[in-house]
Amino acid sequence: MSAILVTGGCGFIGSNFVRRQLADYPDQRVVNLDKLTYAGNPENLADLDDDPRYVFRRGDICNREFVDAALAEHAPDALINFAAESHVDRSILDSTPFVQTNVVGTQTLLDACRAAGIERYVQVSTDEVYGSLGRDGRFTEDTPLAPNSPYSASKAAGDLLVRAYCHTFGFPGIVTRCSNNYGPYQFPEKLLPLFIANALVDRELPVYGTGENVRDWIHVDDHCRGIDAALRNGRAGEVYNFGGDAELTNLELTRALLAVLGKPESLIRFVADRPGHDLRYAIDFSKAERELNWRPQVDFREGLRQTVEWYRAHADWVEKVRSGEYRQYYERQYGSRLATA
Ligand code: NAD
Ligand code: TYD
Repeated sequence: MSAILVTGGCGFIGSNFVRRQLADYPDQRVVNLDKLTYAGNPENLADLDDDPRYVFRRGDICNREFVDAALAEHAPDALINFAAESHVDRSILDSTPFVQTNVVGTQTLLDACRAAGIERYVQVSTDEVYGSLGRDGRFTEDTPLAPNSPYSASKAAGDLLVRAYCHTFGFPGIVTRCSNNYGPYQFPEKLLPLFIANALVDRELPVYGTGENVRDWIHVDDHCRGIDAALRNGRAGEVYNFGGDAELTNLELTRALLAVLGKPESLIRFVADRPGHDLRYAIDFSKAERELNWRPQVDFREGLRQTVEWYRAHADWVEKVRSGEYRQYYERQYGSRLATA
C-alpha cells in the first residue's frame, strides 16, 4: 500500500499503530484524522513531526466534507477507524458523544469511503459488543451481540453498519474485536494507567465492587499487529477476534501491579460498583490464528513491567493529561465513591 488513512491516531491504540506502521513499512504514507477530544493528544506522535511520510489533519469524522477532502487529497488505499469515544464510565455519565462519534461517525466514514472507492476499510472494535460471560466459555466471532453499556451498544451499532454495508453494497469492510489493551500512551482514566499513576504518588486505587470481574489483557503492540494482519490479509465482510490469553480478576491485576511497583496493598479501596458492570470477558482468537497467522506474543508479566516503567519515565506526560478537564471528570466519577467507601 502506498498510503493509509487512520482516524483517531492521536489516541492510545491509534498512536501506537501509526508509529508501528511507519517503522514497518518505510515506503508507506500515513494520514491521521483526529478531532483531538480530551483523549486525543498530538504529543503522542510528536516524534513524527519531521517525518515527511506522516500527515496530521484535525477534524471530526462526523463531518463529511472534512472526510471527503482528506480522501480526495491523499487517495489512501485503506482507512482504519480507531476514532471513538472509548470509556465505559463516561458513557454512563453521558452517552450523547458516544452515539455521535461511534455510530454517526462510522456511518459518515462508510459513506465517504464508498464514494471514494476505497479498497479496504477496517473498523477497530471491542469484545464488549458480545456482552458478559459467566465463569466459563469464550467469545467467538459467532457469539450473538448483546452489549450492556452505552459504550458497547454504540460500538455494536458501528459494527452492524459495517456488516450491512458489506452485505448490501459489497463494501470491502472488516471488523476487528479485541480485549482490554494496555501499554504506553493509554489515557489514565482506564484501569491500568489510572492505578499506576495513582500508586506512583501513593493515592488510593478505587476497585469497583468486589474486584471479581475478569478481563483479558493484551499488549497494545499485539493488538496493532493483529489489525495490520487483518488489513493486509483479512477477508472482506469478516470479523476477527484478538485476545491476550491473560485473564485476571481486577483484584489479581491490582495486586500484581502493586507488587511490580513495590507499593502496599493498603492502597486498595473497594468502592461502589459500576452500574451494569460486565462480569467477565474472554476471547477465542483461533480464527485469527488460522486465517491471519496471528497470536499474541507479549508475555503479560513482562508487558506489565515495561508499561509501569514507561509511566514512571513519563510522569510529565501523565501530569499534563491529568490537568484540565480530567480533574473535573475524576471528581465526578470518584469524588463521592471515595468519600463513602
Ligand atoms: P482513545 O480514547 O485513547 O482515543 C480515541 C481517539 O479518537 C482520540 O485521539 C480522539 O481525539 C479521537 N476521536 C474521538 N472522537 C472523534 C471524532 N468524532 N472525530 C475524530 N477523532 C475523534 O481510544 P483507544 O483506547 O485508543 O481506542 C481506539 C479504538 O479501539 C476505539 O474504537 C475503541 O473502541 C477500540 N478498542 C479499544 C480497546 C481498549 O482497550 N482501549 C479495546 C478494544 C477496542
Ligand atoms: P476499564 O479500563 O474501564 O475497561 P473496560 O470497562 O472497558 O473493561 O476497566 C477495566 C476493569 O476495571 C473493569 O472491570 C472496571 C474496573 N475498574 C475499576 O475497578 N476501577 C476503576 O477505577 C476503573 C476505571 C475500572
